Amino acid sequence: MHLHRYERIWLIIGGATLVIFLSVVGVQAFATDAHPPGSLVTVDPKTVTQEAPFNKPSLTQVGPKEYKAVMVARMFTFQPGTMEIPVGSTVHFQITSPDVVHGFEIAGTNVNMMVIPGHINRATYTFNHPGEYLIVCNEYCGTGHQVMAGKVVVK
Ligand code: CUA
Repeated sequence: MHLHRYERIWLIIGGATLVIFLSVVGVQAFATDAHPPGSLVTVDPKTVTQEAPFNKPSLTQVGPKEYKAVMVARMFTFQPGTMEIPVGSTVHFQITSPDVVHGFEIAGTNVNMMVIPGHINRATYTFNHPGEYLIVCNEYCGTGHQVMAGKVVVK
């Protein structure tokens, strides 16, 4: 088979570029142990809701106007479903899923993350305005997806 000289040169350049790109992507994906943002802790989704703290999803006060919300997102509910806090409170959310990928979006805030089985996802938000904040699942998770919601009541 006869290849034109330029054809051969460009084939080599193309092949070399491919190798370089795949190496860069491969190093970033595997060697640096990349994670989804906000979920540096991994857990076993099969047992996570049987062990502390996710066996008792709850909102607890950890300081003056500071709360910790340990939450579970599952088909098709958030636990706890409703949380009440005084205005000006900062809430540290940590949430996991024992079943499928869910979403965790607090309407009217910048809190919006995926809840991934096997990971603990975290977000912190200070509620400076009173009102009812809807928590919605914004990842399609099955037949009950549209009813999956919770709320934060800020008084
Ligand atoms: Cu959970 Cu959609």
